[in-house]
Order: sequence, then C-alpha cells, then structure tokens
Amino acid sequence: MRIDADLPVPGDKSITHRMLILAAMARGRSRITGALTSLDARSTARVLRRLGATVSPLVAGREIVIEGRGRFRRSERVLHCGNSGTSARLLLGLLSAHPFASTLTGDRSLRRRPMRRVTDPLARMGARFSFTGSDGLPVTVRGATLAPLRHELPVSSAQLKSALLLAGVAGEVAVDVREPGGRSRDHTERMLRAFGYRVDDDGDWIRFAPTGRVLPVTSQVPGDPSSAAFLVGAALLSEDGQLRLRDVGVNPTRTGFLRVLARMGGRVALEGLHDVGGEPVGDLIVSGAGLRGTEVAPGEIPGLIDEIPLLAVLASRAEGTTVFREVGELRVKESDRLALLASNLRTVGATAAAEGNTLTVQGRDFVPAGRVVTAGDHRIAMAFAVLGTTPKARVQLDDPACVGISFPAFHEMLRAMSAGGKGRA
Ligand code: S3P
Repeated sequence: MRIDADLPVPGDKSITHRMLILAAMARGRSRITGALTSLDARSTARVLRRLGATVSPLVAGREIVIEGRGRFRRSERVLHCGNSGTSARLLLGLLSAHPFASTLTGDRSLRRRPMRRVTDPLARMGARFSFTGSDGLPVTVRGATLAPLRHELPVSSAQLKSALLLAGVAGEVAVDVREPGGRSRDHTERMLRAFGYRVDDDGDWIRFAPTGRVLPVTSQVPGDPSSAAFLVGAALLSEDGQLRLRDVGVNPTRTGFLRVLARMGGRVALEGLHDVGGEPVGDLIVSGAGLRGTEVAPGEIPGLIDEIPLLAVLASRAEGTTVFREVGELRVKESDRLALLASNLRTVGATAAAEGNTLTVQGRDFVPAGRVVTAGDHRIAMAFAVLGTTPKARVQLDDPACVGISFPAFHEMLRAMSAGGKGRA
C-alpha cells in the first residue's frame, strides 16, 4: 500500500471523559471543542444527564455545551455505562461523596471487569457498596461524608487513581495515592491543576489537596494518541509515502508506544509542539519502515497499555522476536486482550504465545489471512484491520462496527489514507 495523507484524529477519550465529568460537577456553563463523540463518550454524557447535568448532543465537529449544577442529583434509574470502564470507575469515585444510592451497570464486557480495586479504597473513605456478584458491575454505591485517604494502588491504573482523586474533589478531602509500577496517564492531575486545584507529585506520591471548587471551563480536547497509534501503525506497514496526523496529544504518559516504535526502527517525527489546556500536542509525521523486534519492560507498560494490540500486530511483521512482560492487566480490559491477541495472531498465520503475564510474538514476512474474533473489543478490531493492510492480506473482522466505541470513522480513515485523503476525525 502507498499512502499519502494528512488527517486529523478523533478527540482524546480519556480527556473527554474527564472534561465532561468535571464540567458536570461545576456550577454553570462549560464549552468543550474537539471532544470525542464516540459510543464511550456518549455513555459518560448519558449518565451525567441522569445525574442532573444538561449536556448537549455529542456530534462530531460540534462544540459540546454542559450546564452543571455543582452537585449530582439522585437518579431513580440505573446508570448504564455501556462498554466504558473509565465512566464506571470515575463516577464511582464521585458518587462516593454524594449522600444517596446510585446503581451502576454496563454491557457484558464491562460487567466482567474488576471494580473492587476501586471500591475497597472508596469504602475506606466512608462510602458503602453492594455487589450482586463477587466483583464487577452492577454495583450500588451509597455516598457519605468522606474521610481523607492515603493509599498504595495494587496496579498502576489511571482509572483507579482518578476515581480516588475525584472522590477527593467531590468530598473535599485530601487524597494521597502511589502507583506501584510505571506512571499511568496523568490527565486527571493536569486537569485538576488547570481547574485551580493543588496536586503535588514528588515522583512517588501524588497528593491532592481540596483547595477550591470546580469552576466551569471553556476548553479544547487534543487528538487521541491511542487512536492515532493505529494510523501510525498502518503508515509504518506501508511500502511508500508519508502520513501526517494533526494535533495529536503527546503527553509523555501516553507516548510509550512511540518510544517502543523508535526502538523497533519506526520513523515517526513530531512537529509543531504546543500546549492545549495543559497538555502537549503536535503533528506526527510517519513514513514506512522495516521494523525489528524488541523487549517491552514492565515499567513501560502503563505508558502504552492501550497500544499493545497495535504493537503486537506490528511485531508479527517485524524481524525477530518481541516480548511484552508483565501485561496481565490486558486480561481485564474490554476483552481478555492477552488471550485474544495471541489466538488471533495465530489464526491469521503469525507465531505468538501468551504464557502467564508475558506475550511473545515472533516476527516474519507473512501474508495475514483469517477471521479475527474481536469479542466486541474496539482495539483488537483496529489492530487487526491495520494488519489487514499488508499486501495481499485477507483479514476479516467478526465485528468491524465495534470500532465505534472510540473511533467511529476508523475504517473510513484507513481507506482515506491509502487514497491520499484529507479526512474528518
Ligand atoms: C484509562 C486508563 C487505562 C486505559 C483506558 C482509559 C483512563 O485503564 O486502558 O483505556 O482514561 O483513565 P487503566 O487505568 O485501568 O489501566
């Protein structure tokens, strides 16, 4: 495939969830441009409306206007978070500080994801939880007046960290958290600072101090590096040409995949670095390149957790072996990504194995062909669609539409890339 394209990418999913939530917590009108309008973002908006905020329809390319009331209002209805773990976990944190009962649920994928890692520390702050099963949604949270918290997280997870920090915001109490491995994405910390809060980070403990109240904002969401990653991957696999991706967020806690790709021999340049609402943003310029295998160390995993599906498919076409160590968290993502990556790679003709918490991919020149089981997981679907752009490949997805969770225009943009397009995210 020859590529020649200049494309925007959809708004950052993590930042969109956080901005919608904080705007709904503020008293007054907020305006957000560049936000993601995919199914996951709509899940957050839907739940926030049930909790009393007015949120304008999420339409691609249109500003979102949010009218917050300062506090959430009790919802009689169950709060359905769809496929979105970020919505469920962040909202559990906020609802812990609201003195009423709320029940959260989600789709089949979300209901199997662990929630006690979030609710255990929130219970120590004073909130109460009742589960129908042993872990996971549906769960009912009864909020309370919260006590301060000092907590060491069992895993480096931005959802978990953010749930606790947001409980501190809504409950107006101090929260100190520490991550065990590498640092997970720090959008909540940056956004809280932009909202005027005090968040200290000494490289070990992250400390939140309840210094104010959430104010309405007018802000912009940068492009999502995790969505950009799939287009970067397709450009690296291409035989010829160049791709420019506009206004992509390049927060160092999100760009671990670019560091790994550089080690693998990928050529991705950054141009026009600037700041958008406290987040670094720039254009990514990518040209095709032969890749070689690499070792991805445990400390790197939190900084590229969502890009492992893409890196794994690229590794299958690289020269040599790629090993991802300590990637057990992949088992509790939108699907069991560890098992699905290995099995789907084998289905399409690659050599890959998931053993314990390690994923190993043996790279070689092969023609990918076969039917991929996505389990409705958007990132599995996009990763294998990228692999399907290799010459003569015949890769089929059992559920191509599931990309709508984070990147509704993905298939269209992948096509636009090879046609030399200028598209809309
Ligand atoms: C996210 C954090 C990550 C990531 C998810 C979004 C966030 O999950 O996989 O897609 O917005 O905080 P964990 O924090 O559970 O690793």
